[in-house]
This record gives sequence, C-alpha cells and structure tokens, in this order.
Amino acid sequence: MIEINKYKNYDEMSKWVVEQIRDAINFNSVTKHFTLGLATGSTPLGIYKYMRDETWDSKKVYTFNLDEYADLPYNHPQSYEHFMEENLFAYKQFRYSYFPENERYDDIIKNNGGIDIQILGIGTNGHIAFNEPGSPRDSLTRKVELTENTRKDNSRFFDIIDDVPTHAWTMGIESIMRAKQIYLLANGKHKKDILEKACYGDITSDIPASYLQEHNNIEVLYCD
Ligand code: PGA
Repeated sequence: MIEINKYKNYDEMSKWVVEQIRDAINFNSVTKHFTLGLATGSTPLGIYKYMRDETWDSKKVYTFNLDEYADLPYNHPQSYEHFMEENLFAYKQFRYSYFPENERYDDIIKNNGGIDIQILGIGTNGHIAFNEPGSPRDSLTRKVELTENTRKDNSRFFDIIDDVPTHAWTMGIESIMRAKQIYLLANGKHKKDILEKACYGDITSDIPASYLQEHNNIEVLYCD
C-alpha cells in the first residue's frame, strides 16, 4: 500500500514536484551530474511550465524519457521528442536528452548513474509508461504493441484514431523501479479509481502501476 497525497489543485501539485527536483539538483549536482526521468501526456505539463522559470544549472542534467512512439519520424508533431521540445526543451537546455529507441536504453541509463528522480503518470487502465496490463515485473526497455484503450486515450492528440501508432518503445517496469525516487502524479477524477486500485489494491500485472507499491522511495500525488 502507498499513501495518496491529495493536493488542493493542479498548480500546487506541479509546483511541489518542481521544488523537490530543485532541492535534489542543488544538493546533488555540486559534485555530480543529475539524471531526471521525464514523462509525456497532459499530467506533467504543469511541472514543465514551472520548471522553465527555474534557475538551476540544467546543463548538469541528463534527461531520459519513459517512452516514444515507434515508427514516427522524429519531427512528427505527435512524437514525444517533439512534445518535450515544445513544452520544455525549447526553454531549458539540458546536457543531453535521451528517448528509448532500442534495447540498449537501460544500459545507457545505468552508465549515467541511474535515474535520480522519475516523474510518472498513470493511464486509465493502470499502465505506467507504455507498460500495459500484463507487463511483467522484470520487463526492461522494449518495443510493445499499444492496447486499443491507450490508442483511444491518445487519439485526442491525432486527427483520427487510425493515425495513432500501434507500437511504441517503452522503459519496462524493472527499468522504472530502478529509479532512486519516483513521483507518480494523477490529475482528475477519472484517474481516482485506478490510482486507488494501484496504491491500495493487490500487486498484479493487471494493473502495472500496482508494482510501484514495492518501491521504497515513491510519493503519489493526486488532485481532482
Ligand atoms: P495523461 O496520460 O497524463 O495524458 O493523463 C498519462 C498516461 O497515460 O500515462
């Protein structure tokens, strides 16, 4: 079981995470670089908005995104790289930003010292990154097929559902669990039920986010 911390509103929730990142970077990067795990989707947009005004030295920070559509050109407006460019990277210059595109991703993360802070959202079916229900606990970065549920959720960003890619590269459950600190965020009443199942229910591959109960350094944030 993990405690769910309820926030007054989305802004408060986003600002709190940015404060944690700021403190950790200021504390850590005196002697070493910092490694930040980033997510796409609507949930982290507030974090990225507030991060733009931060004055810490982002040149010391490496970023690793959780996932990326497969078979979309890099500059496609719906690629996650493009999303990050538009919402964060255009404002803040990081040392280097990585996206998963092959199985070597976990080794690259390891060679960079592991992820210090991972920002995470949750899908309405309990997925984390593109680890859909049924994903094994020991999964690493791999190419996966997206479920109809996820393609439907994401079709709001595309003209029609048929344009949503069928496959994506995603960090695995094990890749995510290796992060030293995780902030799992959920925004909106439509996420409440699945978040409660993930945090209070049984640990099961039917709800990949439930594996996070086994992480010893996770904060769960919710606002409706
Ligand atoms: P959302 O997506 O932030 O757009 O709600 C989260 C997710 O599917 O992981």
